[in-house]
Amino acid sequence: MREIVTVILAAGKGTRMKSNLVKVLHPLMGEPMLSFPIEVARKINSQDIILVTGYQSELIRERFKGEGLTFVEQKEQLGTGHAVLCTKDTLKDFKGDILILCGDVPLIKEDTIRALIEVHQGGKSGIAVLTTKLPNPEGYGRTIRGDDGEILRIVEEKDATDLERKVKEVNTGIYCAKASYLFHALQMVGRENKQSEYYLTDVIAIATEDDEKAKGFLAEDPFEVMGINNRAELAKANEVIRKDILYKLMMEGVGIIDPRTTFIERHVRIGRDTVIYPNCYVQGNSQIGKECIIEPGSMITNSIIGDCVIIKTCCVISDSKIANRVVIGPFAHLRPDTELEDEVKIGNFVEIKKSKIGEGSKASHLSYLGDAILGKRVNVGAGTITCNYDGLKKHQTIIEDNVFIGSDTQFVAPVKIGEGAYIGAGSTITEDVPSGSLALSRAKQVTKKRK
Ligand code: UD1
Ligand code: CA
Repeated sequence: MREIVTVILAAGKGTRMKSNLVKVLHPLMGEPMLSFPIEVARKINSQDIILVTGYQSELIRERFKGEGLTFVEQKEQLGTGHAVLCTKDTLKDFKGDILILCGDVPLIKEDTIRALIEVHQGGKSGIAVLTTKLPNPEGYGRTIRGDDGEILRIVEEKDATDLERKVKEVNTGIYCAKASYLFHALQMVGRENKQSEYYLTDVIAIATEDDEKAKGFLAEDPFEVMGINNRAELAKANEVIRKDILYKLMMEGVGIIDPRTTFIERHVRIGRDTVIYPNCYVQGNSQIGKECIIEPGSMITNSIIGDCVIIKTCCVISDSKIANRVVIGPFAHLRPDTELEDEVKIGNFVEIKKSKIGEGSKASHLSYLGDAILGKRVNVGAGTITCNYDGLKKHQTIIEDNVFIGSDTQFVAPVKIGEGAYIGAGSTITEDVPSGSLALSRAKQVTKKRK
């Protein structure tokens, strides 16, 4: 295989999205559309990956910085041909082949690209274009072939005659071309067309006239080469990716009760015999161990969960770490930097933030634990609250092993409760409590007889 550089076109605004955000940053299962073609470019071992950006260029650079990509700016969006021409200086010494991908064609697969490269390099063509057949080719450039079946040119829908519009084979916007020939041909492309743009597609007709072979390679699966131009197409692509992820997980032994209503992002890892109930979202770099149960309506983001964990219905868990055999919910909220050790039990309407809860401890009802460190086997009574914020700063509450906290207790942080201490119900604890002692701070009950 000759050396390959991939150029990904991503300078357009994506007007049809009707959005303030550039099209290629719109997410598909949580990841910007553009990361999909970038991944394919990596898989085929591109020597370099060049992103042509224009509209919201800064935003795109920011999102993909540090990933070893080369950025080329197309200041004015004068068409796909012009966009590729913008990489000419960057590639002036490059003698291999250029693979052109579109930032808005995210479902493209590695195998299809390898086959296109094979057709191009094996057939010694100047340029090879990936095409597909669509029952409804609306919006796409049509592939016009000669009597011998060889590709002659591509005509954009806006410039096509009625007869040409009937052609079902379309241009996917993906090409592989000899670098030297591509830049030579692009210089001859004009903008005499309905959109007054420099069309990359014109290179095909130029190649045919030049006796440089132009090859077409037909992609069997039209979904794979679907271009995303509006939000309806975005939703369709999202659906393809979503189902694909779920299928792979199910094949690995993960139980998905209702694949129609389960949303698991691509980088999530889940162990065998874990069962995910409907309406759950598992996002980012989350990992869930084996034999867990995730009940309906839970949302788990960037969290690590051990084995045999039960997450009951409607829990929200973000940036947290949960060990093994933990039970959470229903209706619990674990905010960032929560760490639960083995066999912790967190019940309904409990919120935890930036806290570590030791093995076997329980907070079963209606509590807020923020900036707290709890030891092992602590019992947190219903309605316990850490008062961690004084209006300016956050303060820590430390509760050692085997502490028993009666219901409706407030800890005014910073405060420390020693091992085995006992806090009477209804207390407001403002001072440290030594190990083994009983603290209570409620007013004595007064009961007056009725006269
Ligand atoms: C293009 C093709 C069409 C093909 C379709 C497949 C041309 C002229 N037409 O049409 O034959 O069927 O893709 O999806 O090539 N871009 C730039 N700079 C520009 C213009 C576009 O970087 O000046 C980028 C866009 O951001 C996008 C890609 O090129 O990622 C395609 O542009 P778009 O305007 O969507 O082209 P289509 O009209 O879809
Ligand atoms: Ca497009």
